[in-house]
This record gives sequence, structure tokens and C-alpha cells, in this order.
Amino acid sequence: MKNLLLEPLSLGNISLNNRIVMAPMTRRRANPPELAANDMIAEYYRQRASAGLIISEGSQISPQGFGYTGSPGIFTKKQIEGWKKVTRAVHQEKGKIFLQLWHVGPYSHLLLQPDAKAPVSASPVKPMGEVLTPAGRKPYETARAMTNGEIHQTILDFGQAAQNAISAGFDGVEIHGAHAYLIDQFIMDGTNKRTDEFGGSIENRSRFLFNIIEEILKYLPKEKVGLRLSPKSVKPGMEDSSPEKTYGYIVEKLNDYGLAFLHLSEMMKQEERLNFPEKSIVPFYRKIYKGSLISCGGHTLESANLMLEKSQADLIAFGKPFISNPDLVKRLNTNAPLAEPVKETFYHGGEKGFIDYPVLSG
Ligand SMILES: Cc1cc2nc3c(=O)[nH]c(=O)nc-3n(C[C@H](O)[C@H](O)[C@H](O)COP(=O)(O)O)c2cc1C
Repeated sequence: MKNLLLEPLSLGNISLNNRIVMAPMTRRRANPPELAANDMIAEYYRQRASAGLIISEGSQISPQGFGYTGSPGIFTKKQIEGWKKVTRAVHQEKGKIFLQLWHVGPYSHLLLQPDAKAPVSASPVKPMGEVLTPAGRKPYETARAMTNGEIHQTILDFGQAAQNAISAGFDGVEIHGAHAYLIDQFIMDGTNKRTDEFGGSIENRSRFLFNIIEEILKYLPKEKVGLRLSPKSVKPGMEDSSPEKTYGYIVEKLNDYGLAFLHLSEMMKQEERLNFPEKSIVPFYRKIYKGSLISCGGHTLESANLMLEKSQADLIAFGKPFISNPDLVKRLNTNAPLAEPVKETFYHGGEKGFIDYPVLSG
């Protein structure tokens, strides 16, 4: 069987060597207080540069966008310099890399926020679970609703962060509109109870997202801007009452922008991808979206090829398999066995579980 993953693809004028995308994955290896990418992080991405496209771990666009200790930002000079190490390493290996622009919204804590203020969202919401702070693990707090001034400042912050990403040598940016973080908090009617022009109708709830896209497009050409969405809720208690209507509206409207890609993230297990492919939301949005589409979540060589063969997606992103298989492209090419990732070192452990996964010999 022909392996369609290995076919090249152009996103605007960006040529990708294959259709294998490394999914964005937070690894929390940047040191405080700078929270800049370092040599070890550059080595991690260099090892994985045979992916057609790497999407970096989420990178906070502002101090307020921060919620995960060790997550590298993109709003200071030192952070731009740190990311330069990464983009240089990936480009030396002939890879392509986009930076994921992230504002965590309510998934933070006053101990992680500027001026020790409460984290922000569209409306007051309280995420379930705990957050790691400098004073240990704490339950999430109730976020406060952003003021109109903060909303406008955050839109500007996204634009500045996108420019910073280009200064740092990235080939483009992916806006993180998924997983119930700030942008998604505005989109979902379960989390957005605002009564101003950013709440209520879906036109209003998606205004924040489209204002961010339009701000970034003032500075970057459209083929350097992608968007990640997760139309099916991934976090407990954070959802939309009619996702197909809500995200269908957004995806339809995205057609007017001609972005580099739309990246759909789904929580699917490998068994589900193979045995119940009809559970995927991708075919629904494929019918609406006219541009390049990335599917992510639970993919295997087989499920990826099936989707490409049916033209349901143009690119397939792999997350966990890229953690434990730096040479994933080669392994998918030769149908070699994949190493299993070690969960304990996903978010900490220094070099261990980060840059010490072996490649196949030969
Ligand atoms: C350790 C880890 C960190 C992640 N961090 C991010 C992130 O920063 N941004 C994001 O959009 N998704 C993030 N994700 C989700 C992945 O991009 C991907 O959607 C998920 O792992 C499912 O794909 P997979 O089954 O191929 O692993 C993360 C996943 C893992 C395992």
C-alpha cells in the first residue's frame, strides 16, 4: 500500500516534505524566571525535524497568558532569543516549524499571574482540578471576566506575539483556539455569559477569535497563520450546547480568510480511530472547510492513510508518538514498531524522557 503520509504538500508558498505534523505539546522544560527556550529544547525539536511541519508547544503571548510552570513564552527579548535557537536547529535539518500562540485563560492561578490578580476568562468560571504553583499544587480558582480593555489588549498581544514569532525565525504561527483555553472560553456558550459585543450570539462569541486573526493578518501573510480548534469538548464542565452549529459557523467563516490550515484536535484513542472512524468530527468539518485541514488525536499509520485516502484531511498530526519516537517519520515510512512514551516525564524530568529517546539504527 502506498504511504500517502510521505507525499509532499504546499501550504501557500511553504513546501512541506511530507504530511506528518508534530502536534503541539507542552513539555515545561523552560527555566524561570526568563521562561525562554534553551539548548535542550532546541535539541528536542532538532531531533524531530523530519516531520513535514512541527507545531511548537503552546507559548504564552503575555504574562497574563501564563498558567503552566516551565512553559516558554514569546513576549520578551530573551524569549525571542531562546526560540531562535529552536528555529535555527530545525531549519538546519531542513524542517519547518510554526509557533503555537497560547493564552491559558482560566487555567492559571493568582500566584502565576501579574500583580497576583485572579486569572481571566470570558465570564467567571472555575476549572476542575489543580494547578502547579510556586507554592505547590492548588485547586483552580474562579476566573474573573475580562474587561473590555483587557480584551482589546489581549488582541494586540496576540498580534505582537505573532510578530515576535517571525522575528524568532518561525515559519508561521498556530493560534491556539482549542481545549477550553481563553479563545475557546469565548466561543463556547457554556463558558461565555457576557452581554456585550463579545457574548450572546455565535457572531459575538467568535468576535474575539476573528479579531485576533485579523490583528495577526495585519503583520503576517495568511499562509503563515493556522488555527487549532477542538469542536468536541475536551475539558469537563467546559462545553458548548450545540457544537456543530457553533464551530460550523466559525469554520464556514474561516473560508473567507484563506489561512495556512485548520487543525482539528479530537480526543480519540487509537482503537477508536481504527474501529470507529465514523466517530471522528473531521468529515463533518471537511465538508465545510475549503482549505488545508490537519487531523489530530489517536492516529496510527493505518488511520492516517485511511483519512488521507478519503481526502478527509490533508495532513495528520501525531502527538504522543513523537515524544517517544524522534524518528517517527522514518518509522512510519518503514512500518517499524513505535516506542511507547513514558507519561511521568511528559511535563518534567529535564533531559530524561525529552531528548534521550533513541532512534532506529541503520
Ligand atoms: C504532553 C502533552 C502536552 C500537550 N500540550 C499541548 C499544547 O501545548 N497545545 C495543544 O494544542 N495541545 C497539546 N496537547 C495535545 C496534543 O497536541 C494532541 O492533540 C494529543 O496528544 C492527541 O494526539 P495523540 O493521540 O497523537 O497524542 C498535548 C498533549 C500531550 C500528550
